[in-house]
Amino acid sequence: MSVSVNLKQLINAAAPYWAGEAEVFRRYWELPGRSRETDRRWLALQCSKEFWGSGLAPLDKGIFLGPAEELIAAFPRIDLELDRHAVLDIAEGLYAEFAHYCAFADAHDALALPGEAKLNPHALKTAWKEDLDLSTLRFAHKKENAKLGDRACRFTEGGYCTLFSEGMKLGESGQGPHARANALIAEACSKVYEDEFGHMLKGIIGLDAEGLTVEEWTTLERMALEQLRGRIYMRNAQFGAPLAGAALVRTLAGGADPIAFDYAKAGARLTG
Ligand SMILES: [Fe+2]
Ligand SMILES: [Fe+2]
Repeated sequence: MSVSVNLKQLINAAAPYWAGEAEVFRRYWELPGRSRETDRRWLALQCSKEFWGSGLAPLDKGIFLGPAEELIAAFPRIDLELDRHAVLDIAEGLYAEFAHYCAFADAHDALALPGEAKLNPHALKTAWKEDLDLSTLRFAHKKENAKLGDRACRFTEGGYCTLFSEGMKLGESGQGPHARANALIAEACSKVYEDEFGHMLKGIIGLDAEGLTVEEWTTLERMALEQLRGRIYMRNAQFGAPLAGAALVRTLAGGADPIAFDYAKAGARLTG
């Protein structure tokens, strides 16, 4: 994968924030207060993100109805005004994000006690404060600069998949008080990981071809880092604030040991 100096700089700037998000999950897995109830809570909140989109889609349509309506609108225009692959992309996005909703909702429901209601997306429409803050920030960036705001949103989507990569590792332990929940979480995360790695790459592909000016790269980096800090607040609240005090301050200041971007995996996905 050939990457410009500017893009490398953006990736390097983002890497400590991706690591900060990963730190939230690692701390939560080991938290003494972790329980079936707290696992069900974060899983339900994750389902809300997978269905409603956290600022990546119109708030009232989410990433199900939004693309579904786009597909209907695309139908008469396929290969006349709209390339078939662009249409396939919309369909893929709808399928993938709904599959993610299903994966986490299945884990949530598998942890239910007899008589507890199954999840449904309409009961999850109200996101939590920090997730709404992230949506607001993303919409504000798109309003400030449509092209760069959209690029920043796509670049920060999924936060380098750290929830899914850290969640997948839970499957390796196999014992302890959370063994069953860990196995369910690992299974859901492994279903989502490859898709989201691809979605992140889609946010990166073509950035170098945009021919951004130095000022635009600076603006893009500022927007991306603001969103990545917003993601840490959002994740920390989703998981009941496992990061606090000095550790939280350090993480928000970009002080976590950066995650190494996997250029080999990215390159293989792009050419494979
Ligand atoms: Fe997703
Ligand atoms: Fe995605």
